[in-house]
Amino acid sequence: MPPSLSRTNALVAAFKAGFYDLLSLNPKQQEALQILMDSDTKALAFGGGANGGKSWLGGEWLMLCALAYPETRWFIGREELKRLRESTFLTLGKVRRSLGIAREAYKYNGQDHYLQFANGSRIDLLELKYLPSDPLYERYGSVEYTGGWIEEGGEVAFEAYDTLKSRVGRQLNDKYGLLGKILITCNPKKNWLYTEFYKPFKTGKLLRGLRFLQSLVTDNLKRESGAIEALEGIKDKIKRERLLLGNWEYDDDPTVLVPFEHIADLPRNTHVPDGLPAITVDVARFGSDKSVIWSWRGFRAKLERVLVGADTTVVAKAVREVMQARQCPPSRTVIDDDGIGGGVRDQIPGSIGFVNNSRPLPDPTSERDRNTGKQLPENYDNLKSQCKFRMAERMVKAQVYIEDPGPTVWELLSEELGQWKRMEEEDRKMRAVSKDKEKEALGRSPDYADPLYQRELLELVRPQRRGLL
Ligand SMILES: Nc1ncnc2c1ncn2[C@@H]1O[C@H](COP(=O)(O)OP(=O)(O)OP(=O)(O)O)[C@@H](O)[C@H]1O
Ligand SMILES: [Mg+2]
Repeated sequence: MPPSLSRTNALVAAFKAGFYDLLSLNPKQQEALQILMDSDTKALAFGGGANGGKSWLGGEWLMLCALAYPETRWFIGREELKRLRESTFLTLGKVRRSLGIAREAYKYNGQDHYLQFANGSRIDLLELKYLPSDPLYERYGSVEYTGGWIEEGGEVAFEAYDTLKSRVGRQLNDKYGLLGKILITCNPKKNWLYTEFYKPFKTGKLLRGLRFLQSLVTDNLKRESGAIEALEGIKDKIKRERLLLGNWEYDDDPTVLVPFEHIADLPRNTHVPDGLPAITVDVARFGSDKSVIWSWRGFRAKLERVLVGADTTVVAKAVREVMQARQCPPSRTVIDDDGIGGGVRDQIPGSIGFVNNSRPLPDPTSERDRNTGKQLPENYDNLKSQCKFRMAERMVKAQVYIEDPGPTVWELLSEELGQWKRMEEEDRKMRAVSKDKEKEALGRSPDYADPLYQRELLELVRPQRRGLL
């Protein structure tokens, strides 16, 4: 047996046995493959930034399926057949070589556009262009497929997906114990992918059988060199947001307090100087919310603890431990004092309570009124807005560093910071949008970001006044 053939056989056997870690895939691609081979998902949107390894995964999944399950029938659909042949074909070629599949393992029928495998399996290439003469894609309404892949779903009409999902699960699925599935690979796009997959995924309301998985260039550990730099170099801000960061929500919202590029800088602002220790704490209001503890040195922040469903005694104990570890005195420990938070604050004598809705404070560095000698009050509706605006400005000026909390928390945190927005001014006061609005947009509570603005209180409260708060 030629070496490549035995290698292919071994990989196909590993695939059939579910040993996806032997397939030389990125962890995100393995996760996607797991979903594509599970026994309850019907459609997976594998969507994110450019160069995330999405097309590779689609190609590898279908090639392995075609080889592993003789006589099965699959499709790859894209808006334009020409682009399928020009670009998706290139990826298929790379996948074929990486799996050691011999060129003769399949033939391309250029007239009817399908790949015919020696074991009887085939992969059809479908043009999914919207035709006014066939708005419901009846041209594919009677073909029987085992499963299939819609490539670049952002360019494809919903009706194509709707028709094709009724065409899978019809070719030897029972024989091989395969669920009929559709994979959709896509970049962020506000079309049916957003409403069917992304938004419900974010709000925890995905319909049964549907899954969403995001993959960014940084998840593609096998990317070509220069891939990230190329995306960072995209001039158009919206495009860069979508393709580099896989941002589905990006629209140039002028009310945003910290534009995305400045959020992205936070873990890179290593130049921010060290300073006095501080701790800020947001205490969970409801069972599912999190209590989050950040420590600081100057404006260098580090996520210390995340506690889910902990009572005030447990949270207070964790705060004390962090105070001890970071050598932080109570007078520089800020704990939210709304509702349950008060219970924690009471257990840390000398700590400072943060009352969101209290009056804004004068800025100690601002000018004094010439006549009264008093500092002018700042023009915000409450302390929370004041601190949020101030922290946002500090972030925009690159004066805040956030130690990288790992990709999962970073994604959540940056999403929350993206929701720091100004509201229309009423009575000429500056207001930040309410927590309820933030929750609505996020589909969850902004647990990670809230303690960040609380840090500003220490800049507003002069030492002699602290005891009074
Ligand atoms: N498992 C893998 N093994 C080897 N190389 C890989 C693998 N996955 C991805 N790559 C490399 O990364 C490149 C980009 O991957 P791919 O084309 O799948 O990304 P994509 O998410 O489809 O990008 P786009 O959004 O631009 O369509 C591939 O051309 C290939 O060079
Ligand atoms: Mg692709």
